[in-house]
Amino acid sequence: MIQKPKGTKDLLPEESYKWQDAEEKVKNVLENYNFKEIRVPVFEYTELFQRGVGETTDVVQKEMYTFDDKGGRSITLRPEGTAGVVRAYLENGMASLPSPVKLWYNMAMYRYENVQKGRLREFHQIGAELIGSGSYLADVEVILMANNIFNSLNIPNISLNINSIGCPKCRSNYQKILKEFIGKNLDDYCDTCKSRFEKNPLRILDCKEKKCKEFNVGAPKMIDYLCDDCKEHFENVKMMLNEANIKFQIDSNIVRGLDYYTKTVFEFVDEKTGLTVLGGGRYDGLVEEFGGQHTPAVGFATGVERLMEMYEEYNKNINKKIPDLYILSQGLEENKKAIKISEELRKRNYIVEKDIFERSFKSQMKYADKINAKNLIVIGEDELKNGKAKIKNMSTGEEKDIVLEVADILKNL
Ligand code: HAM
Repeated sequence: MIQKPKGTKDLLPEESYKWQDAEEKVKNVLENYNFKEIRVPVFEYTELFQRGVGETTDVVQKEMYTFDDKGGRSITLRPEGTAGVVRAYLENGMASLPSPVKLWYNMAMYRYENVQKGRLREFHQIGAELIGSGSYLADVEVILMANNIFNSLNIPNISLNINSIGCPKCRSNYQKILKEFIGKNLDDYCDTCKSRFEKNPLRILDCKEKKCKEFNVGAPKMIDYLCDDCKEHFENVKMMLNEANIKFQIDSNIVRGLDYYTKTVFEFVDEKTGLTVLGGGRYDGLVEEFGGQHTPAVGFATGVERLMEMYEEYNKNINKKIPDLYILSQGLEENKKAIKISEELRKRNYIVEKDIFERSFKSQMKYADKINAKNLIVIGEDELKNGKAKIKNMSTGEEKDIVLEVADILKNL
């Protein structure tokens, strides 16, 4: 039998209703902040991610699903949402809309990763991008919104870690200092770190190799080298988060895996597993990088599979949609009546099932039981003739006499 590719998941009905439930709650939070949904293509020209996410990142160097299409163009399945959304913002003239432009998305992403718990090759992100404001208030707004996603899903045991990675100006000064520190042991770092030394030494701090981690102990921290503007911005973010009673830690090791970040970066981490469930930050240079005017922006994305793990752990009674009614019927005229009634009820938003097998009453009854139908009505010869039937509540066993018309059935659902 052909199996699904490694790192992908089938979302079966026994889980999809939980996703729908959570997605609806998250969507409400995003819309309460007046973010509007955007959907962008699954694939983009490869250059978009090379320029946006950055040539020296793991995502671009190792993880992209890239191929030439039949016209010989290099195409990449989106590994993240921000680059595509910013492209769409520019391409569709959204820069002339009232600023800021606030967009959210729920989209599948593709990264060729080592598959492990919480790390898939096809995964989903719900993300938000606030484009246009450079104020610390925008950082605070998206962090509050992210925090409210966890509140709305009743997910505890999440910690917020924040950091500032400065702007290109203070970062280039810091990079010099960092290179001096790393340079002393560069020959003994792993090959990936060596290749990043010239272009992106900050990424070396994020290396997971044991020996590199050891050399990194005591490295100078970006946060100690911020320029006045970045320092003030970060102080204001912290002040306002405190004001809003949001608990956070400063984690100077957060550098994030994508190159477009500037100033504030943040991650919401599952305290039990240590997995980052939501990550984001400011990216003041990306719109310009893609050919637009200088336009500061800030956003985040949450990994829906990781979010759902937590949602299911802390919410045991997620509303499952089960049929309100099963109509048993047999015979041509009885089936006509069953179709008429079930169509009327479905129009009124009730979940109704009926026989579509021409099965015996006994097997219809068995099926109704298996699907946990809340109520049952039998339409047989007598019921049809008299225009009367019984409706049975399957959880209490109670039976009631009804007129075999929609109005009377509705009173009993
Ligand atoms: P990211 O940190 O690469 O950021 O991904 C955001 C979240 O997606 C992660 O925190 C994680 O929960 C989830 N995620 C990432 N990779 C995987 C994977 N292989 N399997 C399962 N889940 C995964 C971004 O993508 C940025 N675009 C976020 C952003 C938006 N920054 C500003 N705006």
